[in-house]
Amino acid sequence: MFMKGNDIREAYLSFFENKGHLRLDSFSLIPKDDPSLLLIGAGMAPLKPYFTGKVEPPCHRITTSQKCIRTGDIENVGRTARHHTFFEMLGNFSFGDYFKKEAITWAWEFLTEVVKLDKERLYVTIYPDDQEAHDYWHKMIGLPENHIYPLADNFWAIGQGPCGPDSEIFYDQGEEFGTDPANQMGGDGDRFLEIWNLVFSQFDQQKDGSFIPLAKKNIDTGAGLERMAAVLQGKKNNFETDLFFPIMEEASRLSHINYGTSASGDVALKVIADHSRAITNMISDGILPSNEGRGYVLRRVLRRAVRFGKLLGIQDPFLGQMIDTVVEMMKPAYPELIEKQAFIKKIAGVEEARFQSTLNAGTDLLSELMEDAKKKHQTMLAGSSVFKLYDTYGFPWELTEEIAQEQGLTIDKEGFAASMEEQRERARNARAKVAMKVATPDTTKLNASELTVEDKDGETEIVLLGKDGKEIASAADGEEVTVILRNNPFHAEGGGQVGDTGRLIGQSGVITVENCRKLPDGIAYLVGNVSEGVVEAGSTVRAEVDRERRHALARNHTGTHLLQAALKRVLGNTVNQAGSLVLPDRLRFDFTWPEAISSRQLEEVERLVNNEILTGTEVTFRNMPLDEAKKLGAMALFGEKYGKIVRVVSVGDFSMELCGGSHVSNVGEIGSFRIISEGGIGSGVRRIEAITGKAAYEAALADRKLLAHTAELLKGKEEDIPARIEKLEAALKEAKKEVQKLKSEQARDSMGNILSKAQEKNGVPFLAAVVAADNMNELRKIADMVKDKLPGGAFILGCASGDKVNLVGMAADEAVQHGVHMGKVVSRAAKVCNGGGGGKPGKAQAGGKDITKLEAAITEGTKAIAEMIG
Ligand code: ALA
Repeated sequence: MFMKGNDIREAYLSFFENKGHLRLDSFSLIPKDDPSLLLIGAGMAPLKPYFTGKVEPPCHRITTSQKCIRTGDIENVGRTARHHTFFEMLGNFSFGDYFKKEAITWAWEFLTEVVKLDKERLYVTIYPDDQEAHDYWHKMIGLPENHIYPLADNFWAIGQGPCGPDSEIFYDQGEEFGTDPANQMGGDGDRFLEIWNLVFSQFDQQKDGSFIPLAKKNIDTGAGLERMAAVLQGKKNNFETDLFFPIMEEASRLSHINYGTSASGDVALKVIADHSRAITNMISDGILPSNEGRGYVLRRVLRRAVRFGKLLGIQDPFLGQMIDTVVEMMKPAYPELIEKQAFIKKIAGVEEARFQSTLNAGTDLLSELMEDAKKKHQTMLAGSSVFKLYDTYGFPWELTEEIAQEQGLTIDKEGFAASMEEQRERARNARAKVAMKVATPDTTKLNASELTVEDKDGETEIVLLGKDGKEIASAADGEEVTVILRNNPFHAEGGGQVGDTGRLIGQSGVITVENCRKLPDGIAYLVGNVSEGVVEAGSTVRAEVDRERRHALARNHTGTHLLQAALKRVLGNTVNQAGSLVLPDRLRFDFTWPEAISSRQLEEVERLVNNEILTGTEVTFRNMPLDEAKKLGAMALFGEKYGKIVRVVSVGDFSMELCGGSHVSNVGEIGSFRIISEGGIGSGVRRIEAITGKAAYEAALADRKLLAHTAELLKGKEEDIPARIEKLEAALKEAKKEVQKLKSEQARDSMGNILSKAQEKNGVPFLAAVVAADNMNELRKIADMVKDKLPGGAFILGCASGDKVNLVGMAADEAVQHGVHMGKVVSRAAKVCNGGGGGKPGKAQAGGKDITKLEAAITEGTKAIAEMIG
């Protein structure tokens, strides 16, 4: 039965409404509270909490037509009949309500009675073990056995989340699609088209990949609207249905390339049709182009569309017209598209213009690279080239890969990733430098009295957008900017405290705020970079300070005040602040003090601060003239410039300081305070570093783990650690003594052994022996001892050290007078073991390469000595 796409969607949803389902609008493409997903890629994805039972659904039967994005095989889009990036999935869901029987009954009823598909052409697959599903299809529905195929991979999962065995329904499009093996049921061909998947969802897949049975069984089904349309409209591919064709016609009108005239033209038209739907719906759902996450997916799809537009010969920007067409076609089901149409076109337009400006040059470069590679018989494009195309010409690497593939080339992804990392590193370093000297915005035209500094997140206006010291009207992602807000909730760096970070979220773009600084006239400006989309001067943004970080800063700042007060109490009033640094993860305080600080004093300081924290005293803030503050005894920094009116920050009568920084409202919020280091940093100046709050807790936790691990290694309880170590040390000392004793005994033994080999000729004692020594050094030591024990004699010793032979020979003067020449002896011996060496008559050494000949070499040595003694 012929049906239009919009009518099929409506028929499906109302069919299931009549079966007691609640019809819900499609959820956004952006997953809500689900970090495991980048984009919604299935009808069930936004409903995960209902399946797992975490959240009670508004109804136990729900039906939707869900917008989905899948880009896993984007390169196939346009080249096959049914690959898409954006598609709609029709689905009916049961949360612990009906199960297999109803799911199968209703799917069959819809297909054969509502859209009236020919029963003869319907086939199903089932999970091999699923006898139940088999019986419902066969016995209840009456589907013949030869229309039911058990398939082992009929198990559907989405990564983390609900999953289970499934049963897929196929439509036989007819023999004209092919009769080869690929076009048999279960093959890869187009003849048998999967139109509906019924998942009997009964497990919850965990992060680690394990499956936990769900308390209640569910149904999750998915039917691709585009495929259903192709079947019902008798089209060979989805693109020829009314869900795509008008977009292709519009692209044809612009390019003067008609559908059906060339294979490459058809691919381009299909890509544009598919991608235009994706672009329109992604931007409509709030995704903005960027180099990360979802924004990058959008960028890839959009730039791929622009490239195919170029291949069709379209010179001017054309996405706007495509988007108009998509909106026109989809508005019956998605009326919000009308409202967002102008916005979608604007965002897509900026991105299109950005890419078009570099596309020609990038394409030329890529062609050159590919030519070059082919000439050199290389099959891979260098990672650095792919990176250049990405960085300078805006070519997503996937696009480069796809173009390279068309020419039979691959790209070096690892090299690309390495270049990317190098550039990140460079950018990090550059940012660190820039942070110090970002060209400050020109504020001469600003009316400072219209700016406020209320410390509250919320909507405000970008009064001035700057780049490199110049005012600009807009900035796109990747650009470093400075921003002045109508109301600025960010705290500027100063007084040792680093500036706040956070985000400015506008409708068309996001700025990541990396710092807040103050100009000499007191106006605060933000330093950051556009991380998504485009941001315009004068636009409204939601300013969000990273509050958790701010609170960490406040804990460390108030902690610094308490530290200074405690130091004065313990060491005396001559302690003076010499500098401080307040970071989110720790604080640093430098002060003048001429001598070392004992651990007892340090402990006392830490205890005082912690005692103060435990009092739970409110921190108070008073603005007053500087003189008055000084009279009250507020601590001020010598040499620091203060305004006429100063802010005095007090903690009861424990601490009072002039300070403009961030503080907790009650010292109890600091939680705990822990000194992590103390030392001198120059003449008369010392530095204390400390942590508070969560960091102090984490440090205590780390200590505890270390102790537990140590106790485990010592096989005892934590409190026994010192005693165990003492015992171990005593045992070690004993053992060392024992080793020493054994060593000298061994030496004595081996010396006896060596000496027992002594012979005599003409009153000259001599010997030769193989001894155990690890190297020449040890061997020489042994030789020295032998020399003492063999007065007037001559000897040669050898040892094997690893795979080398060492030889040492010595002769006393008397032996030399009898004609012994050790140099010659050793040389003769060395030759035997494939080596060489020699020396003086009284002392010589040599090395050999063949340890199997060691004994022979020594024998040769004895022989030589005996021969020489006259
Ligand atoms: N969740 C199932 C699928 O996407 C229905 O195929």
